[in-house]
Order: sequence, then structure tokens, then C-alpha cells
Amino acid sequence: MKTFYATTPIYYVNDLPHIGHIYTTVVTDTATRFHRLLGEKTRFLTGTDEHGQNIEKAAAAQGVTPIALADRVVARYHALWKKFDISNDDFIRTTQPRHRAGVEALIARIAAAGDFYTAKHEGWYCASCEAFYTEKEIGEERKCPIHGTACAWESEENVFFRLSKYSGPLLEHYEKNPQFVRPETRRAEMISFLKGGLTDISVSRSKVKWGIPFPGHPGQVVYVWFEALANYVTALGLGSEDEHLYREFWDNPDGRRIHLVGKDILRFHSIFWPAFLLSAGLPLPTTVWAHGWWLRDEKKMSKSVGNVVRPDALVAQFGPDALRYFLLREMTFGQDASFSDEAFLTRFNADLANDLGNTVSRVAALCRQSFGGTPDVAAAEEDLEAAFRAHEPEWRAAMEDFSFNRALEAIWRFLTRINGYVVAREPWKVRKERGAASPVLKKILYGSAESVRLAAVMLSPFLPGTARKIFEALGMPGRDPAPRDLEWGLLPAGLPMPDAPALFPRADTASYFEQKEKTMTETPPAPSKPTPPPAETTQAVSPSDGQIGIEEFQRMRLVTAKILAAERVPKSNKLVRMDVDLGSERRQIVAGIGKVYEPEALVGRNVVIVANLKPAKLMGVESNGMVLAATVGESGEPSLLAVSDDVPPGSRVK
Ligand code: MSP
Repeated sequence: MKTFYATTPIYYVNDLPHIGHIYTTVVTDTATRFHRLLGEKTRFLTGTDEHGQNIEKAAAAQGVTPIALADRVVARYHALWKKFDISNDDFIRTTQPRHRAGVEALIARIAAAGDFYTAKHEGWYCASCEAFYTEKEIGEERKCPIHGTACAWESEENVFFRLSKYSGPLLEHYEKNPQFVRPETRRAEMISFLKGGLTDISVSRSKVKWGIPFPGHPGQVVYVWFEALANYVTALGLGSEDEHLYREFWDNPDGRRIHLVGKDILRFHSIFWPAFLLSAGLPLPTTVWAHGWWLRDEKKMSKSVGNVVRPDALVAQFGPDALRYFLLREMTFGQDASFSDEAFLTRFNADLANDLGNTVSRVAALCRQSFGGTPDVAAAEEDLEAAFRAHEPEWRAAMEDFSFNRALEAIWRFLTRINGYVVAREPWKVRKERGAASPVLKKILYGSAESVRLAAVMLSPFLPGTARKIFEALGMPGRDPAPRDLEWGLLPAGLPMPDAPALFPRADTASYFEQKEKTMTETPPAPSKPTPPPAETTQAVSPSDGQIGIEEFQRMRLVTAKILAAERVPKSNKLVRMDVDLGSERRQIVAGIGKVYEPEALVGRNVVIVANLKPAKLMGVESNGMVLAATVGESGEPSLLAVSDDVPPGSRVK
């Protein structure tokens, strides 16, 4: 049976999601929704990569266990995917027992093939990538090609995988399967890398504790990239008692198995992973699709560069579908693209508010005003049906080819045809001259409304929520479309239509930027700067060298508090409003920490606050106290003072 299995990379839990992660997931969602719409049996997997040194370090820095950190970030991912209408069938966490069982099964198969051996491992290592690089790749300066940071010389005894054995078989596979790596430029890069010959790689670590123990090698854990790649089959039940999903979606000659990845991790997916699979005697993915990067100021958006765009403010104001649209329309799949608010707002107003929103509301309003709903006969003139028959195959071919921007362009050409038709046929004039019972009017509006319905069906893989709203505006149930909905003439006649609100009210660009400017220049209680004590006290007690006496210090009531709830202050990208527990009381505090901390990640944390600070209003919200944080780096990013979890709220800090 023909199946379609699509996966995203599994995301690290030492970083909160940003536009880059959202992009890969939205693309995978769109591709899967398209194949589901065609009636194929689909499965969509995403998840989190939770082991390894970086997670271990990040957790230690925050004073929590690695699993507590992972749980916190996973909750954030779940909420985000829900908000973005991501229709994944499964979410794998590499800390789950099913993953460990699958990894052990994979290792057993590779061991049986004789492809592991133990040896001393030395080389140039990038801690952020958790990967070794060759001298050629890091150049004379020994800098990581991805992060630009210094690589360190590492040496330890490890388990090795005989990757070198697979250069030939992999090359042969590439030659026989032109679709194996896409786009073509990336395929060429991988072929040239393979032609350079492969060296064996280490697949265990002895210095890392947070990982899956390597079977048969006490003291070693499985290298995080080895086990992470295995998620694509462990999630299907490989190595478990029930392998039916594995057989249906992986070990199936009629199945398509697509990995969507950023170009930064292509080599892991198109060389290491297939080599592990060849060794284990398992089928390979059919295609590894590598997309480009979202750039900001011409650099890859990433936490280590510090230039990430978190979507919260844009999504709060414009909705998740507006961001989905922008990401899919603006980037040519495979190439890099730049993210900017200006580009986002331009597309929002031109494409969503104007072309899409206005077409839908115009056609719906004409139907409502003429008949209170759809016309009572399902008949149309030829024009728009012909337009649909011309644009639907363009859309379909582009979707098959993961050319999402081209597919959107095809839908937009169809929208232009619908609009042009309405303008040319002037239904308002027909109604005035011949009345609402006129068969001509019914035909014009049935054709227009049916076209809007079909545009929404084609749009549904991209903007599922908007498509549902369009169906509702036409009087139909707001659900995801089924395969048969992609046919002309299915809009029911005589359906009452509700008065629907505008899909994308036009954005006022000038006031957006004014507001943004205001948020950036607002002065919240600087969590970093010490509050100057009242002037008279300073003069009375402090000697001229700025020292203060103990009495003066004791005037400040510093206590621990537990954050019970946290949310962003509307229209501010810095301010977070929190409810905190001081043991004997609860109160509200506002702090300028929202650029660094996601509200959800704050809940449950123990922090230190100044409890006897005069109340102040920040962007209209009252703050009763101040949260203490260190200021880091030139930009003064706040880093909250951490108190261990077991300290009861309200404990005095001195
Ligand atoms: N955990 C590994 C992947 C293991 S898969 C077996 C990892 N995780 S990650 O959290 O760093 O996320 C990587 C993916 O996020 C990239 O491959 C890419 O899909 C996406 N992006 C992260 N930053 C990005 C951009 N600036 N632009 C586009 N996508 C990028 O690597």
C-alpha cells in the first residue's frame, strides 16, 4: 500500500523554539496535509532530542536536572505546535523507553554485521555541534564551519562505526536514486563529499553521562547523533513487540519516507544515517529534503549567534496562519531567505488582507445580500471552472515537488481570476437590473462561491485554520477537507451563510512600528540595575566612597518567591507579568525579561525579589516588587538569579 511518512528533525531542548524550528515543522505539516488531502495514508513525526552534553550543560547552568529542563521545553513545543495547527501523528522524545529499545535493536543489528570496533578517538571537536571535524573543514583557524567558534582537540576511547565501508554502496545508491537528496545542488555536494572517501566515526562517548548506555560497552553512552537519527524508526516501533507501523511506513516498497531537514544537518541525514541503515540491513529513506536557513542580518538565525526571532508577538497580533503563510511564501524551498517585519507586513496586507481576504468577503457578501446564502441552484458559467482546471494541476505539481511558494502562486493566480471574473460580470448590476431570482445572477455567484471553496481546499495544507473559516463563511462545516472535496461543483445549493468577520483585517504598518519602537525604548524596572536607596538614607549613612552600612542593606527586603503564572504584557516584547508566591502572600510583578525568557518556561521557578519596592506601573500594568537578575554581555541580557527548588517561598535573602 502506498504510504507517505514525513519527519522533522527532533529539536534540542536547550533552546526555545524560534522561526527556524517553526519553519521546518510548518513545511512538514503542509506536505503531509497535502498527501492526506490526496487520500494517501500518511504519518507525520516530530519530537525532541534530549540527550547529550549540551543539554547536560544547559540544565546544570539553570540548576535543574536534564529531564526537568526537557519536560519544560517539551511543554513549550506541544503548546506551540497546537497553536500552529501542526497535525503530527506522533511526538517522540529520545528519553522515552520506546526510543531506547529501538536504539538497542539497531545497535544489535549493526554489531551483528561486524561494523563496530573500539579505538582511541582523537580530533577537532565542536561542542555546540557535538561533532568532530576534519582539519580541512575547520581551516587553519580551527573554527567550526557552522558556529564559527573554536574547535577543541579531544581524545578518548570510543566505539567506532565502519563508515568507510559504505562510501561505495552509498555512491551507488545516490546514482541509482536521483531523488535521494534534494535539491540537486545539495545532492551534488553530498556526492562530492562521498567521492572524497569516508572515515570511520565514533558512535559512543565516555565523558558524557546523559545518554543511552552503549550495550556491551560499560562506561560509554551512545553518541547523541547516532541515537537521534534512530528516532525515525524507533518511533515506528522498531525493536518493540508491535512493529506494524514500522512495516507499514518504513519497511514498505511502496512507501515514501521523507526527512525534512535544514541544510546544516544534511550530512548526518544523507550519509551517516543511510550508512547505519545499510549496515543494519534496513531500507533507506526515499528522500532527504534540505531547506535553507532563515537569516537575520545575513546570518543564520540561531541561539548561539543571538539573532533569533521568536514568533510570539507577531502571532499574538496577526495569528498563526499569517506566519505560516509568510514562511511558506517567502522562502524558495531549498534556498536561504531573510526574515524582516517589513516583508511580513507587506505580504500580510497585499496577499492576505487584500487578495485573499477581500475576495472571500466580497463573494460571501454578494451571496448573502442576494440570497441569504449560496444560490438555490448549483449551476455556473464555464469561465471559473476552466480557471480551476488550469490552476489546480499547477498547484498539484508544485506541491508534489515541495515547491510551496510556486503552489501558493498558483492559488493566487486563481484568486486573481475569481476577482477578475466578478469585476467583469458585475453581479451587483445584474441583481439591480434583473432581480435576485435571475438565473444569470445565480450562475455568476454560484461559480464565484464554488471557486472560493476550491481555493480554500487548495489552501488548506498551508493555512488550515483559514481554510476552515472560509468553509464556515460559505455556510459549510469548518473542518479539514476530505479528498473528494477537490472536485468542481460540490458547493451545496441554498446553504444559509453566516455574517463572517474579515479573515485578515488590514495591518496598520505605521502604528505597528510605532508600537514596536515604544516597546523597545520603554523603561521597565531594570532587573539588573540595583535600585538606588532613598536619597536621604544614602546621604545619612553612606560614606563618600559609596559603601553602605548593614542597616541600610537591611532596609531592602529580599526574599525568595515562586512563579505561579507568567504571561507577556500585550504589545511589549520585553515585559512579562507574573503571579508570584511569597509564602504568606501572592502578588503581581512585572519584569523586563521577556526577550530572554518565555513565560511558560518561568512557571515553577524560584527567584529572588525585592519585596518592599514602591508599586510602579509598567505599560499600564502594576508591579509590586522587582525580580533580581544579573546583566550579561554588552546588551545587558537579564539572567535570573536562581534559587534551588526546595527553598520555601518567602525565605529571606541576605
Ligand atoms: N537535534 C538536532 C537534529 C537531530 S535530527 C535526528 C538539531 N536540532 S535543532 O534544534 O538545532 O534544530 C535543527 C533544525 O531546526 C534544523 O535542521 C532546521 O530544520 C531548523 N532550524 C534551526 N535554525 C534554523 C534557521 N535559522 N533557519 C531554518 N531552519 C533552521 O539540529
